[in-house]
Amino acid sequence: MCGIVGYIGPREAAPILLDGLSKLEYRGYDSAGLAIYNDGVITVERAVGKLVNLYEKTDGGNKLKGTLGIGHTRWATHGKPNEVNAHPHSSENFSLVHNGIIENEAELRRTYLRDVEFASDTDTEVVVRLLEKFTSEGEEMDVAIMHLIDIIEGSYALAIIDRRDPDHMYAVKNKSPLLVGKGEGFNMIGSDAMAMIAHTDTFYEIQDKEFAIVTRDSVELYTSYSKRIDREPYKAELDLSDISKGTYPHYMLKEIEEQPLVIRRIIGEYQNEAGELTVPEEILADVRDCDKIYIIACGTSYHAGIIGKHFFENIAGKPAESCVASEFVYNTPLLTEKPLFIFISQSGETADSRAVLVKIKEMGYKSITLTNVKGSTLSREADHTLLLYAGPEIAVASTKAYTAQIAVLAILAASVKNRIGIDLKYELALIANTIEGLCGDRELYNRLAEEYIAPSRNCFYIGRGVDYYVCLEAALKLKEISYVQTEGFAAGELKHGTIALIEDGTPVVAVITQSNTNLNTRSNVKEVISRGAKVIRISSKSLSTRKDQIVIGDVHEMLSPLVSVVPAQYLAYYTALHRGCDIDKPRNLAKSVTVE
Ligand code: F6R
Repeated sequence: MCGIVGYIGPREAAPILLDGLSKLEYRGYDSAGLAIYNDGVITVERAVGKLVNLYEKTDGGNKLKGTLGIGHTRWATHGKPNEVNAHPHSSENFSLVHNGIIENEAELRRTYLRDVEFASDTDTEVVVRLLEKFTSEGEEMDVAIMHLIDIIEGSYALAIIDRRDPDHMYAVKNKSPLLVGKGEGFNMIGSDAMAMIAHTDTFYEIQDKEFAIVTRDSVELYTSYSKRIDREPYKAELDLSDISKGTYPHYMLKEIEEQPLVIRRIIGEYQNEAGELTVPEEILADVRDCDKIYIIACGTSYHAGIIGKHFFENIAGKPAESCVASEFVYNTPLLTEKPLFIFISQSGETADSRAVLVKIKEMGYKSITLTNVKGSTLSREADHTLLLYAGPEIAVASTKAYTAQIAVLAILAASVKNRIGIDLKYELALIANTIEGLCGDRELYNRLAEEYIAPSRNCFYIGRGVDYYVCLEAALKLKEISYVQTEGFAAGELKHGTIALIEDGTPVVAVITQSNTNLNTRSNVKEVISRGAKVIRISSKSLSTRKDQIVIGDVHEMLSPLVSVVPAQYLAYYTALHRGCDIDKPRNLAKSVTVE
């Protein structure tokens, strides 16, 4: 979850590293640090809190002279988020930064480092101390790195520099993402392309248990048994403007309002020559061949997965189940004879989902990954990939990736078998226009959020069927960025216990877009009103009443989540704004969750 950048070249490294780290802050942000090599000395500067603190401490990097360095933003896993535990960690000769978790750190301490006095509480320090030990015992750097790969269990992306060596930096990877950026007369290391895209669009992938030796002019990749790897670099289709906020005050608002564009892009990307929406035949063959689809994901992507299950069963007539990855991996349900696995992940790097992928591959089952990030781990390791084409999502709270996931799941399900004759191309185009209309009502959402939700400690979203599935996502959105404790509830289930929590002024948001449950949900709304709740109703036009504050244009009922979620995203955004929260970087969270 942490972010790593490294630079070796002709320019001052520190400002470049700080700029790169600013593009990675979404990965974690409880502390940050730099290690810069200059004339046989490595200077380390670290600061607790946001990157801006390190920026100020080093005068935008100008205080640190040197053209070789590494940097890090941290999301604490071992040890408190304080300066001592912030990366880089150093030994006598080395400084390194780490993303991941060293699972056998205690055993490594016991076996190799009994006499060492540690400066921090981190698992990372064990790695730098081991490197120091192995090299001081006479191992060459590459041998010492292979030794580390051999004995360390867990996930790691490492960038390393040596105070005796002005000409090399090293990158080592297992399970955590890491790329080498190839430049002209310089090279970089980064957790993702965004950290380096201002300088280069050409990258080398490093795979698990591989390492890279990087100089100003060369990049050499090796396996863990010293075999040189001949791998071509690839060009990333990323534009700097994709990752800037433009005139928006927050990435989240920008990303909410990019949703019509994303849906239109998906229509374009998934269109065949006949203008029909479909996916490659080999993917369809695997889906048709299975007897049940298991959708594996976490958080928001899991919520999209529940809607995917609904699509597979109702559009394609294919049994499906959506499962939380972290549960599935250790409590695997009884599987059918011919299961197919679909992984949904915006980042393509989520460790919980990857653990399932590793497991089901060992069992010999096929997999498809739906992801926003081409070349990500889950994409590389699955049999097939379907891209989301949402563009980089920077705000920690996922918005446009969620709607992209739902749109691609609908296309996949309808391509397998369109039992209900849905004209998906038309429906998705209509949805893009409808979302655009909703984006014009910012003031309404702002007012409702301020009046109903922001003053409250808790909140409920209620709905039935796909409206309920949207409520789960709406509740997650609200709680993660505004810290209002929120539950998404099946409207009919509330009276079986949870209604006890409704008191005077409790905000309840009802989502009503399904004609078969419209009246039932409205009865549940009356139940909560009579117990003092203040209700916001989000309803589709044909089902709306005069009292409904947010009315969304009619779209195909099956696809209504793509539209009904949008006002909920806005309500979360404005509630967080009124409560003075850090919208794009909510506390305790990171965008890419690369630890289990
Ligand atoms: C919430 C959110 C998270 C992610 C989850 C999975 O807004 O973004 O719940 O959905 O951490 O991440 P991915 O989709 O990258 O696998």
